[in-house]
Amino acid sequence: MTRKTIEQIKAHKNKSEPLVCLTAYTMRVAQLLDAHCDLLLVGDSMGMVLYGMENTRDVDLDMIIRHGKGVVRGSAQACVIVDMPFGSYEDSPQQAVQNAQRIMDETGADGVKLEGGEDLAPAVAAIVAAGIAVVGHIGLLPQTAQDSGGFRVKGRTDDGRAQLVRDAKAIEAAGAAAVVIEAVIEDVAAEMTAAIGIPTIGIGASRACDGQILVTEDMVGITGDHVPKFVKQYAQVSEQIAKAAGDYAADVRARRFPFDDNVYRPKKG
Ligand code: KIV
Repeated sequence: MTRKTIEQIKAHKNKSEPLVCLTAYTMRVAQLLDAHCDLLLVGDSMGMVLYGMENTRDVDLDMIIRHGKGVVRGSAQACVIVDMPFGSYEDSPQQAVQNAQRIMDETGADGVKLEGGEDLAPAVAAIVAAGIAVVGHIGLLPQTAQDSGGFRVKGRTDDGRAQLVRDAKAIEAAGAAAVVIEAVIEDVAAEMTAAIGIPTIGIGASRACDGQILVTEDMVGITGDHVPKFVKQYAQVSEQIAKAAGDYAADVRARRFPFDDNVYRPKKG
């Protein structure tokens, strides 16, 4: 089985079938998703989803690399992209290249993703010039949202709309292979998608995008009580885990578990 290349991801712009993308943080989950996805993202959302952090800013390079390695090991056909953590690319294009190279060398991933529009285009261009594929991320930027008006849907004002289109064009011009658009109103996402020649991958950005991505744990119903409007839960895995734990606890307390089948005994004969 051959892995989808970043060029194949890029070529989806001209295909009628949208890109299917999900986050993966672990080897086992990557194995389960691999056959169904064009792209797996080792997202820094892992900080909140896996580690219970308040936001994504405490995820560091060592953490994302550890998980990136697992996802590459667990997948064979999906293109694997690893998020660049907050603080690993903003200081200078040189810093961005150095850390992107470290992610690539240590994980074996197909590319990196970083958050930012026009202002981060020099970092994107430098990483691309170093021969590393980049997926951009514009619209709502979780790493910096708390410094710039909070976690709000983007594109509701004329200025906001114009900036989003400029961001999309700047990220394309910098050489990105695709761009994630997060939490943008539908007609603006459509305008951004029409304005550029690389695929847009939407999360909370409508069907107008060239592909879709969700956090897998949201999609399978394994997160907390708040389910964002843009998420559709295709399963309720939390309920199944809680039920399994309850059944196990009852069996242990009643001394039913381990059952006969689960016990090692001397071999007969
Ligand atoms: O970190 C992440 O999971 C992401 C997706 C939400 C696009 O950036």
